[in-house]
Amino acid sequence: MNWTRKDLLDIESLSSDEIKTFLNCTRKFKQVCLSPRKHVPFLQGYTIVNFFVEPSTRTRTSFELAGKHLGATVVNLTANMSSLQKGETLKDTAKNLEALQADVLIVRHSASGVPLFISERVRSSVINAGDGAHAHPTQAFLDAFTILEKRGSFDGVKVTILGDILFSRVARSDIWLLTKMGAHVTLCGPSTLVPKNFEKMGCRVVYNVEEALEDADFINLLRIQHERQKKSAFPSLREYTALFGLTKERVELMKSDAIIMHPGPINRGVEIDSEIADGERSVVLQEVTNGLAVRMAALYLTTGNNPDELDARLAEYLPQIVSK
Ligand code: CP
Repeated sequence: MNWTRKDLLDIESLSSDEIKTFLNCTRKFKQVCLSPRKHVPFLQGYTIVNFFVEPSTRTRTSFELAGKHLGATVVNLTANMSSLQKGETLKDTAKNLEALQADVLIVRHSASGVPLFISERVRSSVINAGDGAHAHPTQAFLDAFTILEKRGSFDGVKVTILGDILFSRVARSDIWLLTKMGAHVTLCGPSTLVPKNFEKMGCRVVYNVEEALEDADFINLLRIQHERQKKSAFPSLREYTALFGLTKERVELMKSDAIIMHPGPINRGVEIDSEIADGERSVVLQEVTNGLAVRMAALYLTTGNNPDELDARLAEYLPQIVSK
């Protein structure tokens, strides 16, 4: 199937065929990421601007590396070093980046809807790198790809997302993707952070952590998004950890082959004990590696490259890469 979208703004609007196409491209780019030489210059001559108006380690770095592995020119613009500080509007900033002939704008912003707002005003492709509590589509793709690598299919797979769901763009994008692909999603956390109406998205909502863990194949832990909460949604972090933190004792209640995920950044000792985060069931760092492949796929597809030609194009480079 071909990919016709210039932008990647959310998961909600994607069909299951588009999701499959994207994940298939990710699988191929993962081979590139793991090879000794990662240069597959399909985007040579392209200009990519990483425009991050919120902090990021994983997403910003992996988009920069993905663009460079694909041979593009990549520049980074952060809020505190941009003329947003001098009162320039978001629209003017985006129009100026377009005037600099940016082919792709990768946008992270604290306000939901900013990537869509920009995409409606520029010819450049726009990729949402996380907007408010709305969407983080490339994180959902890397979570889904990690599940697929471990289980081979989404059919009947049970995924529990534990933590601050209300303020989480990762939770919303994961829910859209996983339910569209046939996985069963359970949400758990304090009732102030996990409203019952999330059930309308096709999930189960439970408030007892043991119940949420007992039959899960994957546990995806989310940190408390303090930066989006005007007031605390629970009495203290200590109480949150006591009721919902993933401890050694709680891991023992899980299925013996259940896998632990976390999008990062981790708050060790709050939502997860350090030894669990670093333990053998944790795939936290594999998720980060998969994020690189996902972002190569996002750049390849949104710039109009044909997914059906990817095998042949990679074959030109991969044997060479492997033999060196
Ligand atoms: N998971 C994630 O989006 O991490 P960063 O905020 O570091 O990009």
